[in-house]
Amino acid sequence: MSADGQIMDSSSRTLDNLEKENNKNGSVRQVLLDGCVPFSHQVAGHKCGINNTGVLQHPDGTILKQLQTPPRGPREMNFYTQVFAKDCTDKKLLDLQQHLPKYYGTWRPGESPHELYLKLEDVTRRFLRPCIMDVKIGRRSYDPFASQEKRDEQISKYPLMEEIGFLLLGMRVYQIDSDRYISHDQFYGRSLEKDSIKNGLTRFFHNGQELRRHAVSLIISKIQSILRWFESQTQLHFYASSLLLVYEGSPHRVNGSKHKPAEPGTEHQQGEPQSNSNISHEALSFQSSLTHSHPYCHNVQHERNANGKCGGSVEEKDEEIGIGDKKQFGQEEAVEVKMIDFAHVFPSDNPDESYMYGLRNLLSTLEQILKD
Ligand SMILES: Nc1ncnc2c1ncn2[C@@H]1O[C@H](COP(=O)(O)OP(=O)(O)OP(=O)(O)O)[C@@H](O)[C@H]1O
Ligand SMILES: [Mg+2]
Repeated sequence: MSADGQIMDSSSRTLDNLEKENNKNGSVRQVLLDGCVPFSHQVAGHKCGINNTGVLQHPDGTILKQLQTPPRGPREMNFYTQVFAKDCTDKKLLDLQQHLPKYYGTWRPGESPHELYLKLEDVTRRFLRPCIMDVKIGRRSYDPFASQEKRDEQISKYPLMEEIGFLLLGMRVYQIDSDRYISHDQFYGRSLEKDSIKNGLTRFFHNGQELRRHAVSLIISKIQSILRWFESQTQLHFYASSLLLVYEGSPHRVNGSKHKPAEPGTEHQQGEPQSNSNISHEALSFQSSLTHSHPYCHNVQHERNANGKCGGSVEEKDEEIGIGDKKQFGQEEAVEVKMIDFAHVFPSDNPDESYMYGLRNLLSTLEQILKD
């Protein structure tokens, strides 16, 4: 770690590189239950998974987030289940799907069936050198049912939340010259004040040589699209929820995808029936490219229509690209912005002003970066 709290690391991709890293360093990286490994692109959050490893990556490339203790874990699971319900007819929820990682149901390790995980799309998956930032959104990090103690604790963590409306929880930024990542943790985010928050955000877009202005503007339009969803709905309020921002740090154009199919024999078939973890990585991507939805849509969320598309949900989107896509993955498409972390989502009957305040301030700060 450097003097200003930056952490340098050189990890680039997950499963492919794990093998190489393991061999190179002579130290075997932990392979956990059912072939799952710690997710190497986690930039914030709890380390509450198996052996305190936080978010895990399944051999099929999906992310596994262990259900937290009640009521948070079940609340998050219910939220994902509701939004991606096969029989969902709620237009707002159907619209919301495009802003979330795809949800593939729950998963239990065959070797440890008492544990329960949410199985999610890895938002960083199609990137060669993903630059990732987790930004907590809203003026309050506590929900309406929080105890006074919890409120005080949350406020004391970042008293400026009320005024700024967002908090950088963590980031990893690829540096071209050194071929390494610089990381900043939650303490860096909490150190940012009104007059330094723009510089803090700017760091996320600087690759050591230049400011990635195009990535800034692409991310702005994705956030605007999320803001439009919030402006059109009154039924849900989100507390302590985050946006996960990702852009491509690699200077090289990526042809289709960086991903290799999982090694034969690395697929694991344990788990609950609904998790269906026995689809190969290649099949997963190919199916994904056909459906523009998640690879397990036959058993979790959507019905397919005669064209093989999942019906009644999201419009086709440019950013959803799998290995089988004919379309090349150019820099124009090389960003993702997804909402994550739904342990504190509650029904409501009025607009989520707190979340929208955060989004608008985040947008105006990003726009300011472009003007400078
Ligand atoms: N679908 C995803 N794709 C890629 N990375 C993810 C995904 N979900 C989570 N992550 C990574 O894991 C981190 C933690 O995730 P998340 O915020 O959902 O958990 P948490 O903060 O531990 O949960 P909670 O705040 O509910 O206790 C994120 O900052 C991000 O780096
Ligand atoms: Mg979080």
